[in-house]
Amino acid sequence: MKRVLTYGTFDLLHYGHINLLKRAKERGDYLITALSTDEFNGIKGKRSYFKYDERKKLLEAVRYVDLVIPEHNWEQKVQDVLTYHIDTFVIGDDWKGKFDFLADYCNVVYLERTPEISTTKIKEQLMLQS
Ligand code: CTP
Repeated sequence: MKRVLTYGTFDLLHYGHINLLKRAKERGDYLITALSTDEFNGIKGKRSYFKYDERKKLLEAVRYVDLVIPEHNWEQKVQDVLTYHIDTFVIGDDWKGKFDFLADYCNVVYLERTPEISTTKIKEQLMLQS
């Protein structure tokens, strides 16, 4: 069984996220999604609209996602790859090159982002409408 791992905040779940998760799952048989905690988002300077537990439930309802684990910090990736026996790490190409160090442990794949959609863009457009 090939195991795939991806990371993200996945706030206001949108079709760009679904596209990413679908293509990530196609890289293997079992997809683990490491979901940024609210505390880690704070460190990254992000504040999500939905809290961690709500974002987790939404992701768990996506057919491509087999397991959701918490992402607490930048440093946990190597340990996650080892703990969960990961074959392939997948993330959008906005991160291209940033996680090449994981290639010592598993395949590293950067997938093309879906154009013209992001959580930030949704938030900005909703602000303009109000
Ligand atoms: N992603 C994607 N295509 C998009 C938006 C996101 O492929 N249009 C991918 C990202 O590259 C990442 C994952 O989905 O691998 C989770 O991204 P996240 O940062 O949670 O979503 P964004 O919509 O980019 O959120 P933000 O605007 O807050 O950065």
